[in-house]
Amino acid sequence: MYGFQQNGTYPPVMASANDSKWQKDAADQNFDYMFKLLIIGNSSVGKTSFLFRYADDSFTSAFVSTVGIDFKVKTVFRQDKRVKLQIWDTAGQERYRTITTAYYRGAMGFLLMYDVTNEESFNAVQDWCTQIKTHAWSNASVLLVGNKCDLEDRRTITAKEGEELGGNLGLEFFETSAKENINVKAVFERLVDIICDKMSESLDSDPTLVSSQSKGTRLTENANTQNSGCSC
Ligand code: GTP
Ligand code: MG
Repeated sequence: MYGFQQNGTYPPVMASANDSKWQKDAADQNFDYMFKLLIIGNSSVGKTSFLFRYADDSFTSAFVSTVGIDFKVKTVFRQDKRVKLQIWDTAGQERYRTITTAYYRGAMGFLLMYDVTNEESFNAVQDWCTQIKTHAWSNASVLLVGNKCDLEDRRTITAKEGEELGGNLGLEFFETSAKENINVKAVFERLVDIICDKMSESLDSDPTLVSSQSKGTRLTENANTQNSGCSC
C-alpha cells in the first residue's frame, strides 16, 4: 500500500525532539492528506535555512548547526485538497546519522541538498542516495537540490554538473537559494506534485485504497510520468 493516510494523523516513526510541538501539530486534523518530507545532505549546505525560508519566509546568515532532527508543518492546497506537509530538517553531521536515518522510514519525499560552492557536499550526493535506498520506502520521491546559487563568484559546481548528476541518479534537479528565495517554493511544489501524481496513479490502479466518498478524485490534472525515484 502506498505510504499515505487519508484524513488522519501520520504518526512519526519516533517521538519528536519537540513533543509539545508535535502534539500541537498532530492535533490539527483539518487536512485531507499528510505528506512526510525530509531534507537531507551534508552539514552547512543550507537545509535549515531552506526550510525556514519556505515555512516562515525568513533567513539568517548565522550558522547554527542542527542537533539531531526537527520539523515544521506547512499546509498547501492541491486543487480542492488540503495537504499538510510535515517537513523534517535533519542534521547533516555524521554523528547524528543513526538518529536521522531512523526518520527515513515512512517519508514520501526527500530533498537531497548540496551546496554549489562546496565540492565535498556535491561528492557526497551518491552516499546520501545510498542512505535513502537503504533506509527509505522504495517508492519515495527524491529531488536533487543545489543550494546557494546566489554565490555565483564562489561557485565550484556548475548547474550543468548538477543536472548531469541528477540525470545519472534519476533525480529531477533544481538550483536554489534560501538566501535570495530562488526556487524554494518551486522545489516543494514540484515534490508535492510528484507525490500527488504517484498517489493518483496508485488510487487508479487500486480503487480499494480510497473511500467511496472520495473515489475517483485526482489530485492533479497534469500527471507527470517522469521517474523521480532514486535510481542509484
Ligand atoms: P546542518 O544543520 O549542520 O546540517 O546544516 P544546514 O544544512 O542546516 O545549514 P544551514 O541552513 O544552517 O546553513 C549553513 C550556512 O549557510 C548558514 O550560515 C546560512 O546562512 C548559509 N546559507 C544557507 N542557505 C544559503 C543560501 O542560499 N545562500 C547563502 N549565501 N548562504 C546560505
Ligand atoms: Mg540545519
